Amino acid sequence: MRWIVAAALVACLAVPTYASIGNGPQEHPLEKFTTADGGMKSFAVNLNPAYSIVLNSTTQTTTGQYFLATITGPGAATDVVALYAPAPANYTTQIFVKYILGSQIPGYVPSGKGQYVFQNINYRVDTQFVLFTGGVNTNTLQTPNYNIIAQSPIITNAAPNQPVQGHLMATTDPSAMLIQWVTKNAPTPTVKYGLTSGQYTKSTVGTTATYNINNLCSGIAQGTGYFDPGSIHTANMTGLTPVTRYYYIYGSDAFGYSPENSFVSAPANGSLAEVKIIMSADNGQAYMDGSNEVRDEKPSIAVSQAIAAEVKNGYTMNVHNGDLAYADGFLADWDNYYEQMSLFAQSMPFMTVPGNHERDFPNSGDAFINPGSTDSRGECGVVYNQRQRMPQQPGWDYPALNTNASGANLRLYYSFEYGPIHFLQYDSESPFAPGSIQYEWILRDLASVDRKRTPWLIVGVHRMFYCDSSDYSSNDNGDQYMAARQRAALEAVFNQYKARALSPLLYHSLSHIDAMFYGHEHIYERTCPVKNGVCQPSDSVVNTGTLNVQGANTTTTLTNPSAPIYFLIGNAGRALTTYSFLETPVPVIYQNVNSVYGYVRMRVNATTLITEAVAIPGNYVFDTVTIIKSTPTTSAAPTTTLAPASTTPPSTTSAPVTTFAPGSTPSVLSPSPPSKADAITAALTDPATLVGDIASLPGTLLNKG
Ligand SMILES: [Fe+2]
Repeated sequence: MRWIVAAALVACLAVPTYASIGNGPQEHPLEKFTTADGGMKSFAVNLNPAYSIVLNSTTQTTTGQYFLATITGPGAATDVVALYAPAPANYTTQIFVKYILGSQIPGYVPSGKGQYVFQNINYRVDTQFVLFTGGVNTNTLQTPNYNIIAQSPIITNAAPNQPVQGHLMATTDPSAMLIQWVTKNAPTPTVKYGLTSGQYTKSTVGTTATYNINNLCSGIAQGTGYFDPGSIHTANMTGLTPVTRYYYIYGSDAFGYSPENSFVSAPANGSLAEVKIIMSADNGQAYMDGSNEVRDEKPSIAVSQAIAAEVKNGYTMNVHNGDLAYADGFLADWDNYYEQMSLFAQSMPFMTVPGNHERDFPNSGDAFINPGSTDSRGECGVVYNQRQRMPQQPGWDYPALNTNASGANLRLYYSFEYGPIHFLQYDSESPFAPGSIQYEWILRDLASVDRKRTPWLIVGVHRMFYCDSSDYSSNDNGDQYMAARQRAALEAVFNQYKARALSPLLYHSLSHIDAMFYGHEHIYERTCPVKNGVCQPSDSVVNTGTLNVQGANTTTTLTNPSAPIYFLIGNAGRALTTYSFLETPVPVIYQNVNSVYGYVRMRVNATTLITEAVAIPGNYVFDTVTIIKSTPTTSAAPTTTLAPASTTPPSTTSAPVTTFAPGSTPSVLSPSPPSKADAITAALTDPATLVGDIASLPGTLLNKG
């Protein structure tokens, strides 16, 4: 049989290509087989009985099952063994979900026969391997001239409703915890949970949602990259006792349950006890069996495993600030992503913001028109929104599923409290400048923060606010251009607003955000306390190591810094930005710059915040920052205006500084903090507590949306 296919599925769009981030490879590995508009490049089916793919099994009973494939073929290094899902495939409309090259198969080159162990996740459908030959270049995109010359038997999926990909998500209610998982179409999705392993005294029936091709925007996501997500189930575990370990299983009575996992519930509202959180961004995903040969996110596996290992060290949450799966419209990657994230996200809530690879596409309502970005390849935030149910903002959210196929109505920003921290997570991919709805929300959320209740105010976003980068291109994907855009919109707000409930005991360091974490460039960069591009003073500073050099190994202890500290932490797995992409010498505000993979451990109590930048592999710490909020000795501290540190420094000689000792109990600032509702009400009715743009907002904005 020989037939020719030349598919073109979606009208071509004259749009820009990928953002040029750092200097690593950017194209999705499947893009070499597809056209830019989502169609398939030309290929032929020319089965040759001399060639074959023999499997040790033709039945899949679980996710992660190994299949031993014995491949007989021409023996070319550029041959391709690919897995189609579902099978039998429609080669005119489907791209395969993963592949390896002939050069990856032991013994295949030049003997023409070799074996490879694949590990297949559960795609909820039957699957089949095929062997291509001819014309695939491993290093550059080129038009393949390849033929399908052999097919394996079809692998029957015997467990399409196996519950998989579980990941936890916190809500604004600390006594609740969401769990999300997928099946093909299992009925009555249920989570069972309790305080004792194996004994589930509580049970919650969840909801089921999904998305289909019509919910997406365009491009590859609506072309060959589309992949049926099955049923996405969400269930809410409620009535949780604070800071308590719960054991749980998820699934259905009809098709069975997941293995048991456990998590530690969130601190009670107003708790100032120590919390331990992992901060990360830009991780991506990779197939455990080595598929997709040039995929540049393989280090994400080691990082995910390292984060999972932090569970035993008491870390109870991961805040991940954008660029998640890098599926880029090849939607089966989202299944693999959550298989990988479940390594740790079944044990700690996974809190995220969207990045360009989740959100951006021209005319989809994103933040970009100069000249626009196609980085989501037509996902337009819809896939992200359905798979990451972040806390809702009453009065500000549109319905969860964008049904108008544009992404325009998504509001993917939110805030939540976690012990002594107020997290403000905004969306750099959607409009954020003054005049936008998101900007109004940011001001309102800042005004609601009670620094007695949550002494620490941490902002998360995807794109850099400050960055050491040589990219000064004047377009929406230019690193410095975008950083300047964000600073123009928000830096004054993040530094000048007056927090509610300023206390004589804590007048200092309370009027600005404490820290900001973001990704986008794939590197670690940490600043001094910065305002308007200049290092700002602290009451005391102690440094070790050499600051402002590439590859630094430093510690910094700051008491009452007078401006935020900025952390670029986009080094969780996607190919690193190299030092050659940065400015030389290192600009003075960047105290620690490291092009290594890893993540940040963060410990926070009422008065002390400690970050440790961890390198993977190696598990060594290369930057430690300790921020201390000391108690001033004077009672004459201003309560409504910010006291510049340079003119009215509080004495630190007698300040009771709380540090973290093993087993220590952090100090408590306020035994009975006011409620958040009270704080919002007061902020809206007491102009003295507000400044600048916040004070000018009409009082009806909380009802927008
Ligand atoms: Fe990004």
